[in-house]
Amino acid sequence: MILSVILAAGEGTRMKSNIPKAAHKVCGKSMVNHVINAARDASCEKNIVIVGHGKEKVISSVEGNDVEFVTQPVGDDMPYGTGYAVMQAKEYISDEDKVLILTGDTPLIEGDTLKELVDYGTNNNLDAIVLTAKFKDSTGYGRIKRNEKGNILGIIEHKDASENELDIKEINSGIFLFSGKALKEALENLTNDNSQNEYYITDTIEILNRKGYNVGGYLLKDNKEISGVNSKVQLAEAEKIMRDKINIEHMLKGVTLINPENTYIEKGVIIGRDTIIYPGAIIKGSTKIGDNCIIEGNSDIKDCIIGDRVNIKSSTLIESKVDDDTKVGPNAYLRPNSVIGKSVKIGDFVEVKNSKIGNGSKASHLSYIGDAEIGENVNIGCGVVFVNYDGEKKHRTIVGDNAFIGSNSNLVAPVIIRDNGYIAAGSTITHEVKEGDLSIGRARQINKPGWVFRKNNK
Ligand code: UD1
Ligand code: CA
Repeated sequence: MILSVILAAGEGTRMKSNIPKAAHKVCGKSMVNHVINAARDASCEKNIVIVGHGKEKVISSVEGNDVEFVTQPVGDDMPYGTGYAVMQAKEYISDEDKVLILTGDTPLIEGDTLKELVDYGTNNNLDAIVLTAKFKDSTGYGRIKRNEKGNILGIIEHKDASENELDIKEINSGIFLFSGKALKEALENLTNDNSQNEYYITDTIEILNRKGYNVGGYLLKDNKEISGVNSKVQLAEAEKIMRDKINIEHMLKGVTLINPENTYIEKGVIIGRDTIIYPGAIIKGSTKIGDNCIIEGNSDIKDCIIGDRVNIKSSTLIESKVDDDTKVGPNAYLRPNSVIGKSVKIGDFVEVKNSKIGNGSKASHLSYIGDAEIGENVNIGCGVVFVNYDGEKKHRTIVGDNAFIGSNSNLVAPVIIRDNGYIAAGSTITHEVKEGDLSIGRARQINKPGWVFRKNNK
């Protein structure tokens, strides 16, 4: 079996943050989550994540249930280091396994690259391979030591390197593939005899060489994939690289991005052909957008399902559904569980929550629609409020097909407006409106002729 051990127990001191490093997000998902996804793409059947510092935050940042969390004890007196972290997973590894070692701070690694690494190891019968890269500036990384024949001898950490070794441009990505047997044997032999008093996973390469195992290196094609994130500066760099990749993928599939630099689409979002996305859009989570839509302005869309030919302008949509040919915005707010039908208009400053709105209905301006079920071709006038909360409980309002709700009306829930019900502007409705009835629920206007003149002549 191929399994992954993903190291995410470190604090990430250089992040200067109260959030553990691996839980920091890149394009909407935690870094460790991206690494787990890459491992899944590379057919890892089991993923073991080593957690320690801030482990609750790391665990809660992970999606899916094919992940096993193993705690590395952390504290001032505890041993430390990438080698020590891997030791925690020992009992999960059997000799026949292939073990990918990954780090929680390289969110850009691709599943395809990990697959290549596994294939290379299998084809060359290697017991251990390190994924390497050539960097112009190798500062901070472990350096790959090779002999004249080009065979890998070992890895030397930056802090332990001599001046000559510091000149080496080939670096350790932190990603390895081991046979279970070789890895377990090497771990037994690790010491913390180095400048940082840490157990380094990198030392396993030299140990296995000495013991006569087949050890190799695999040079990465795209260096960006292993850019490690150790600071907020590198976090922003990783975000940019991933954002570009995501946006290019959408454009290649036929989505028009007016200015990809300023379009924020999280991994996993699906967008149809010829949909046009203007700058400033933020599209998140499991959102799915159909064909020929137009998304304009600073629209923020999270976990929504949007049909075809929908136009959304400067609006916020959360966990909602919007069907074909509907217009939303500008400045509308769809809160969770809003289900909007076809050819509906949700206009400016309209807020909808936990409500269903039927095909062809319109709420063009300044309304609050909460906990309602609205039929087809209903007209909701300007300023209508669905009064859904009595201070203790929420109640539902039902509005039938073709109803007309005059401007500035209050529908005090629980209440039903039957089909073709017609409500006069400014009404406060507390009782059922029967099918086809006109309902007026407001004080009658009284006119007092000449009242102002009398007042002024006093
Ligand atoms: C490590 C490598 C270095 C490589 C670089 C690539 C070692 C000793 N060094 O250095 O050769 O070039 O990655 O990015 O392996 N972690 C734990 N438990 C620990 C210590 C670390 O889980 O006790 C985790 C961290 O959370 C992190 C990962 O291991 O996700 C790497 O640790 P980090 O301190 O970032 O290692 P580097 O100094 O970057
Ligand atoms: Ca690192």
